[in-house]
Amino acid sequence: DWTSDVFIDATIADLKAKIGNDKVVMGLSGGVDSSVAATLIHRAIGENLTCVFVDNGLLRKNEYEEVLESYKTLGLNVIGVDSKQRFYDALAGISDPELKRKAIGKAFIEVFDDEAHKIEGVKWLGQGTIYPDVIESVSVKGPSATIKSHHNVGGLPDFMKLSVVEPLNTLFKDEVREVGRALDIPEAIIGRHPFPGPGLAIRILGDITAEKVKTLQEVDWIFIKGLKDHGLYDQVWQAGAILLPIQSVGVMGDERTYEKVVALRAVGSVDGMTADWIHLPYEFLGKMSNEIINRVKGVNRVVYDISSKPPATIEWE
Ligand code: XMP
Repeated sequence: DWTSDVFIDATIADLKAKIGNDKVVMGLSGGVDSSVAATLIHRAIGENLTCVFVDNGLLRKNEYEEVLESYKTLGLNVIGVDSKQRFYDALAGISDPELKRKAIGKAFIEVFDDEAHKIEGVKWLGQGTIYPDVIESVSVKGPSATIKSHHNVGGLPDFMKLSVVEPLNTLFKDEVREVGRALDIPEAIIGRHPFPGPGLAIRILGDITAEKVKTLQEVDWIFIKGLKDHGLYDQVWQAGAILLPIQSVGVMGDERTYEKVVALRAVGSVDGMTADWIHLPYEFLGKMSNEIINRVKGVNRVVYDISSKPPATIEWE
């Protein structure tokens, strides 16, 4: 029978035997999976693990600073890299969702590779791959294989010449959370909603600019904080806001406005493969709408996405 304690002991022993005195480098995303994987590897090999956390400029508001701080609290040896501008440059003028993913994946690999080269004699690449990622990347066939290229699975560039170590690749998400709790990882990381690798780039329809990112960060922040303050966050599997590439007419005082529309999305799911939109209370949605429109410059309309997956996907891109 599976228990997190047995898993942790066995995995740490395996990692020690496998890695020995070698050095490991690992990219962290702020999510549950990479945080738990890094903590396990850290328990096994200590300071021989170097973690890299990249600010791609597409994270949630304050996320980079907060997550970096929690990693330090966990005792991880983590290098924070501010690469915002590099990602914005790589994304300039790109509107196609797959091209965005490619540009982000490429920039990430370049940044990560620069950092990995600074670590002398590194032999291994740590990854937070979990079992459903393994299944998805081998079993997805036909057109859906190119619907969304998840850049954080597999796809190790040749020039990196590192062996991969993936301590969570037999676990499901709920097991990863259990392991994380047994490792005393803060609930703020364990209970966190999934967040896509390409981040806010695939929630800004059309091209990406630093200004649009800022606008969406403010909207998203109000919505996520609202969910937490109203005790709704843990009832939702994933939530976020989408900045639409259209303007609509509104009125503010006696002025006509012509500003952006944002969509709010909150879904329930087990593994992200299917999802149902969540029936958030109308009063809550009304409150969010008022707060967003009053506080975020450039937004004058809020809509709520009532589509389930399939046929819609969770993300809009
Ligand atoms: P969809 O939109 O396909 O999303 O219903 C299912 C889950 O996958 C996440 N997602 C991604 N995660 N890179 C990622 O790391 C991606 O390119 C990507 N696209 C979607 C999405 O947030 C949801 O949890």
